[in-house]
Amino acid sequence: MSILASSGLEAIINPHDAAPSREWVLGHLADPEVRGVCLTHSQPSDKVDDEFLKACNENLKVVSTFSVGYDHIDIEGAKRRGIKIGHTPGVLSDAVADITVMLVLMTLRRVEEGISLVKSGGWSKLPWAPFILCGPSISHPSLVLSFLGFGRISQHVLSRLLAFTSKIHPPQVQYVSSHARPNQMEIDQQFSDRFGVKVKRVERDQLASESDILIVLCDLNPSTKDYVNSEFLGKMKRTAVLVNAARGPIVNSDDLAHALSTGQIFGAGLDVITGEPDISSDHPLVKAQNCVIIPHMGSADVDTRKAMAELCVRNAIAGAKGDPMPAMVQ
Ligand code: DGY
Repeated sequence: MSILASSGLEAIINPHDAAPSREWVLGHLADPEVRGVCLTHSQPSDKVDDEFLKACNENLKVVSTFSVGYDHIDIEGAKRRGIKIGHTPGVLSDAVADITVMLVLMTLRRVEEGISLVKSGGWSKLPWAPFILCGPSISHPSLVLSFLGFGRISQHVLSRLLAFTSKIHPPQVQYVSSHARPNQMEIDQQFSDRFGVKVKRVERDQLASESDILIVLCDLNPSTKDYVNSEFLGKMKRTAVLVNAARGPIVNSDDLAHALSTGQIFGAGLDVITGEPDISSDHPLVKAQNCVIIPHMGSADVDTRKAMAELCVRNAIAGAKGDPMPAMVQ
């Protein structure tokens, strides 16, 4: 029996194999029989804002998002209305870490340029030279590997990347987190022991100026919006690569496009971009040869999406019944 059937609740399911319209969603929220709603984070109809919350009938107890991120949800507004929020942490960490590692390697090794050379028929015209299509080495002896945000997914990425970095000269690992903790040295020592390399928390300037590979995997909130801007990029090494697998607006797109076109940094790999999914082929980042862009597919492997769907539905059922939710946003 399905989780839904055994819950004793009924579901109204979007009949189209496409995102429902905003009107369809809001119309159902008003129905006093509707106690919970499952959403994704990627469609305009999923934005939980004032209009959405006002449309909710007073029996509606839970909004369950098919995503770990919840920057599309007005959390405080929902709390004021007594609505709980469920999300899907943990089950997608491996899949997002895999795609982040892929973007790091593709960006360092200029795969975007290589693919377009082959597809455009330019390969045969390429004169061989020792450094043609070369990029910075991931096994470089003094590599500094950095993370903006060092939560679960960053830690999964680090474990994977350590398989590629030098064993003789292990990388230095540094990260920025929102606040230094009173026992920060102890925390960093625990990370260092766990990963077998030196891991330390640093401040923003050090993150900018010392990174060879900088991976963005933090929440989007007012303090991280535009965190990577022209001032930050201006401090980065010309050989550095930046990968964003978190949320587009953490990296300012115009500033990044400028940094890539002027050689301020070596390259970028993006699973996310401000304004997605409405990104035209004329977008300066899409046109940049030293930028790999994929359409927000970090969690897109079959088993991960099944696990996310299950957690999303379990959250909705528990929230609708007033039971503890498996994964509630606090
Ligand atoms: C999420 O679930 O928030 C991620 O963005 C999925 O890719």
